[in-house]
Amino acid sequence: MGYRIAIVGATGNVGHEMLNILAERQFPVDEIAALASRKSIGTEVSFGDKTLKCTDLDTFDFTGWDMALFAVGSEATKKYAPIAAKAGCVVIDNSSLYRYDSEIPLIVPEVNPEAVHDYKNKMIIANPNCSTAQMVVALKPLHDRAKIKRVVVSTYQSVSGGGKAAIDALWDETKSIYNPTDNTAQDVFTKQIAFNVIPHIDKFMEDGTTKEEWKMVVETKKIVDKNIKVTATCVRVPVFVGHSEAVNIEFEDFLDEDEARDILREAPGIMVIDKREDGGYVTPIECVGDYATFISRIRQDSTVENGLNLWCVSDNLRKGAALNAVQIAELLGRECLKKG
Ligand SMILES: NC(=O)c1ccc[n+]([C@@H]2O[C@H](COP(=O)([O-])OP(=O)(O)OC[C@H]3O[C@@H](n4cnc5c(N)ncnc54)[C@H](OP(=O)(O)O)[C@@H]3O)[C@@H](O)[C@H]2O)c1
Repeated sequence: MGYRIAIVGATGNVGHEMLNILAERQFPVDEIAALASRKSIGTEVSFGDKTLKCTDLDTFDFTGWDMALFAVGSEATKKYAPIAAKAGCVVIDNSSLYRYDSEIPLIVPEVNPEAVHDYKNKMIIANPNCSTAQMVVALKPLHDRAKIKRVVVSTYQSVSGGGKAAIDALWDETKSIYNPTDNTAQDVFTKQIAFNVIPHIDKFMEDGTTKEEWKMVVETKKIVDKNIKVTATCVRVPVFVGHSEAVNIEFEDFLDEDEARDILREAPGIMVIDKREDGGYVTPIECVGDYATFISRIRQDSTVENGLNLWCVSDNLRKGAALNAVQIAELLGRECLKKG
């Protein structure tokens, strides 16, 4: 016997990837429902070699469904996730709405799988921010060996992190630069994104950081260790898919770069590509469609006592969202619901 699963936001970027990944990984599905807004009723989405027709989230009855994988943004999640949870369907949510609720587990399965049992508190599990997910997969095995004190991270985040509208904005702006008669009436980004970079993701906080930067700090503490200090600068770049991060890590104990490379090679979810030669590192375009978080440019930082630098790249729609959500569903099934 398998699971009855609802994909909420099935027409979106993350919803589309969740359907692909469930099929790729042969998740034990008895029945699957594709849900979106009323305007998408009847829209066809693919699930492996099957085609599903979207139905309306607003009128869907979650009774008897095991899990609902939500990717609809915080506003719709606030309205519909409690309805699903109340009906006895475990919600795995991609939005930021529940991530900072102390009763709701925030999970990256390679890092804190034990937190899955707390799903019972509210029948909801939160999926982290895309930039946090890939970074903590790399931090955890290093932290286990040499205890991380402080992380300084700069991100280079692709436009797909901002949803379908942001992808269209980059495409339209790029075309309009070659053909100025094209219409580019977009207000997705605060400045031109084509051939540019924007040091601003999500809203500004009172202290001058952005919400995206704040999320990386708070989520890393919740998932890995509350004592790790994190400071982040999050930047949107004109890349369609794949987030990159330059990460500087300061440890309590000395960690040699060769040992760090060996530790990361053995760690779950990580692929080390680190040759000190032309092209001996990974760029975002090479990680699209992949499951791994890629680590390159591992090197000692001699300006602090116990420091390392590394470059971390992953498909933000996969490890940063859909893959992590499906891994949580697998974990929940294996450890708690035990069907299939
Ligand atoms: N993209 C990433 O890298 C990433 C990473 C981590 C987390 N997330 C989070 O995942 C969520 C989805 O992101 P996305 O990139 O997939 O967005 P998206 O491509 O814009 O898709 C949004 C989806 O939500 C549905 N939706 C929106 N409002 C709805 C409502 N009121 N009722 C029913 N369905 C509704 C849309 O359905 P219609 O097509 O019918 O409008 C669509 O299926 C967001 O919370 C985002 O913050 C994204």
